[in-house]
Amino acid sequence: MGKDVIVACDFSSAEATFAFLDKFTGRKPFVKIGMELYYAEGPSIVREIKARGHKIFLDLKLHDIPNTVKKAMAVLSNLDVDICNLHASGTTAMMKAALEGLTRPDGTRPLLIAVTQLTSTDQEAMEKDLMIHAPIDQVVMHYAETAKNAGLDGVVCSPLEAGKVHGLCGENFLTVTPGVRFADGDIGDQKRVMTPAAAKEIGSDYIVVGRPITAAADPVAAYARCVSEFCDEVAL
Ligand code: C5P
Repeated sequence: MGKDVIVACDFSSAEATFAFLDKFTGRKPFVKIGMELYYAEGPSIVREIKARGHKIFLDLKLHDIPNTVKKAMAVLSNLDVDICNLHASGTTAMMKAALEGLTRPDGTRPLLIAVTQLTSTDQEAMEKDLMIHAPIDQVVMHYAETAKNAGLDGVVCSPLEAGKVHGLCGENFLTVTPGVRFADGDIGDQKRVMTPAAAKEIGSDYIVVGRPITAAADPVAAYARCVSEFCDEVAL
């Protein structure tokens, strides 16, 4: 898979999701399904979106004992998603078990990426709540390296970290980056943002874009703008 724009379908029902996806009559966006939509609608939402021809990043961020994660990943692999994820803090043993669970009998599997330190966690929370005292950027890079060594395909990170992750883990290690905004758009609750063009420049492999597309007056045009800035492609 090459560079692509992943649209975060942060909706609470299948109805709202399909009303949104029905607008896209040309290029089919790569879709991110998160906890809200998955827990509201269950695995059928994955099957239905897949059947419409979309690639899917299932963003469920698994974190449990290795055996449980392995079995859960086998179920997600059967759903035929393209990317799924977990927390790197679940340890190397959990990440390796996840890869085993994801791998189908024919050797194929979805891509597996790791969340490093959530962007909602800051240095103070890390120290106070988690008793992790290293600087947060070192912690993020350490988790990225651990994920790479466990055999994972990449990490979710800020576009601002994508270059550093590639420097440490190699150009083929995927960086999937939320926090993308148009130069002339609202940043909302995202604090550290980058435009699609800048994310491309810095080496992000996939950008995850939610509200700049889902809340746009013309979502198809906003998606096309992301695709032209990030993928150098005409999307309509
Ligand atoms: O609407 P917006 O473009 O901010 O959506 C970004 C998406 O990426 C949301 O689904 C959000 O949960 C997700 N995300 C994020 N920051 C992270 C990890 C995931 O914004 N560190």
